[in-house]
Amino acid sequence: MAKSLARPYRSVLYIPASKERALEKARDLAADAIIFDLEDAVAPEEKVRARELLSEVLAGTDYGRRVRLVRVNGLGTEWVDGDLAAFRAHPGVDAVLLPKVNGPADLDAVAGRVQAPLWAMMETAKGCLNAGAIAAHPRLEGMVMGTNDLAKELGARHRSDRLPLMASLGACVMAARAESKVIVDGVFNAFRDEAGLRVECEQGRDMGFDGKTLIHPAQLDIANAVFAPSEEEVALARRMISAYREARARGEGVAVLDGRIVENLHVASAEALIGKAETIAAQSIAAAAE
Ligand code: COA
Ligand code: MG
Repeated sequence: MAKSLARPYRSVLYIPASKERALEKARDLAADAIIFDLEDAVAPEEKVRARELLSEVLAGTDYGRRVRLVRVNGLGTEWVDGDLAAFRAHPGVDAVLLPKVNGPADLDAVAGRVQAPLWAMMETAKGCLNAGAIAAHPRLEGMVMGTNDLAKELGARHRSDRLPLMASLGACVMAARAESKVIVDGVFNAFRDEAGLRVECEQGRDMGFDGKTLIHPAQLDIANAVFAPSEEEVALARRMISAYREARARGEGVAVLDGRIVENLHVASAEALIGKAETIAAQSIAAAAE
């Protein structure tokens, strides 16, 4: 099976494809996924060299369990054709991430030119308005919020509560969930501000995002912790399942635990949470053995 939906995407780290040192370092970093970036993190005069370097590094490096996404340059740029050709059927690539997707036609434009699953950057007003149709594209596997571009395009100000972006973030989460696709939140620019990052991760987690895109290795631990179920949550989930089973055994359809009702929909969420915790635990054991 492709590295895909069943995997955690708590931490998705951008690495500029031009930075050889960072590409090498990433083999040992605790990222669930890596976005190897050919787009905005690479200067125009570096584009072609970065593409060649990345192709070589991906062919020769074992990134283990980490999902490998390549962010190509956008449609209409002078580099996109070369990027798509270089990663058309590359064995070191799990998915191709297309920037500034405005609608499903943009995905159609690349679908025949790469074999890997597609991911979409959600970072334009049009893209957010068309989120449902983008999420429904049969080749699409995941979506990434591009909050810097989005704020720029909306003319929105950066605020710590992200209120100006809420309509777009919410629309994209709804679209991804409607189609059972992965969705990852945007970056937190102030990469030395741990408290600020934690608050933003918690906000994204509470909205339903699978994880957060990151720009620096120092951000990994916080995202991994915030987007993983806590021990308390797992313990509560187990108690909810037991309480519900006992209620069913008594012929009742609803249980009461700690003064709150537990119905079968809560049991489904509790089981999903335990499944996620088990996947993450199994992954940490495998990583420790690497
Ligand atoms: N992925 C992997 N390793 C990274 C990294 C990243 N995104 N960012 C930094 N590192 C590594 C550095 O190579 C350095 O390694 P070393 O000490 O073993 O040589 C170490 O982490 C510490 O780096 P530091 O000196 O703190 O950062 P910097 O000043 O070199 O770089 C940034 C800061 C923000 C420029 C850099 O983190 C970066 O380029 N991030 C990605 C930006 C990006 O991709 N933007 C596009 C999407 S928004
Ligand atoms: Mg962008």
